[in-house]
Amino acid sequence: MGALPELSVDIGGLKIKNPVIAASGTFGYGDELAPFYDPSLLGAIIVKGLSLRPMPGNPPPRIVETPCGLLNAIGLANIGIEAFVGEKLPSLATIKAPIITNIYGHTIEDYAEMARRIEGVKGIAAVEVNISCPNVEQGGMAFGRDPDSAARVADRVVENTTKPVIVKLTPNVTDIGLIAKAVEAAGAQSISVTNTFLGMAVDVATRRPKLANMVGGLSGPAIKPMALYLVHEVVKAVRIPVIGLGGIMDYHDALEFLLVGARAIQVGTANLVNPKAAIEIVNGLTDFCLREKIKDINEIIGALETKGEDHEKKGDRKDKSKANF
Ligand SMILES: Cc1cc2nc3c(=O)[nH]c(=O)nc-3n(C[C@H](O)[C@H](O)[C@H](O)COP(=O)(O)O)c2cc1C
Repeated sequence: MGALPELSVDIGGLKIKNPVIAASGTFGYGDELAPFYDPSLLGAIIVKGLSLRPMPGNPPPRIVETPCGLLNAIGLANIGIEAFVGEKLPSLATIKAPIITNIYGHTIEDYAEMARRIEGVKGIAAVEVNISCPNVEQGGMAFGRDPDSAARVADRVVENTTKPVIVKLTPNVTDIGLIAKAVEAAGAQSISVTNTFLGMAVDVATRRPKLANMVGGLSGPAIKPMALYLVHEVVKAVRIPVIGLGGIMDYHDALEFLLVGARAIQVGTANLVNPKAAIEIVNGLTDFCLREKIKDINEIIGALETKGEDHEKKGDRKDKSKANF
């Protein structure tokens, strides 16, 4: 075996050892998957979305499986920022991967206050700002659907912290590039794309919605092509790093996002299907680079080829490890 490829990437003020990040809400408070593998091996871990005060979330049922996807309406059930910092964070100190908090607010001032509370806390490497949750009545996605309010949230968070700020966008908009530009202008260091797509499921026998909240957010393989497109759009719109996510199940999916220009990727629903999914993606990317003689993963980022030879001839460069590539 040759020398190991360089996998580290810079996601806007935060250098991570590989581009694979655990997505918020699918990795608990950081160490729930530790029985399956050492979470230190991941590029970073984003913990469950936190709010200023604890939130019970929505009533059950709040998760429904759909073909190739998952519809959730958790409603940001969480223990609140104080309990996270006091009770959970200390036990995460042994994890040698950056811990990123994901924050949510009912008001713009809530976001600013969360940023202030996190600012002095050691062990939190960056802040991901969720302006894209479809499952809460107030705040969340409402901020992420309007360029002005998205920018105001980003601005207030950036103003109140020296930690890198990642803003997580909603796909449920007409022009995601517009929102991305507004957030970049407000000073965000990077952008993650995407949160879940609004969706519904109905039980025909009872004639009732399958989710108590009626509406939920769709994630998993069902959304991958749409998420990939949105990442492509945002990469074109901004200069700051974009972190891609949405339906990434294996290293091959991860490569698609990197090729369209995502600087790193997040693994969400896949963790719920296969607890080892994220680490398998790290290993898959390493093996891919070795096989393809790629010395540095950054060579792949944004390397989508759109000109030149026709698609048929390019078949020669197929990744032979994947039958249906
Ligand atoms: C059960 C569940 C809970 C989630 N909770 C959060 C959350 O607290 N904050 C957040 O920003 N995103 C949350 N998400 C969204 C994911 O982080 C991710 O953006 C989305 O699921 C798309 O990626 P995926 O298809 O890889 O899961 C949640 C998703 C699921 C499935």
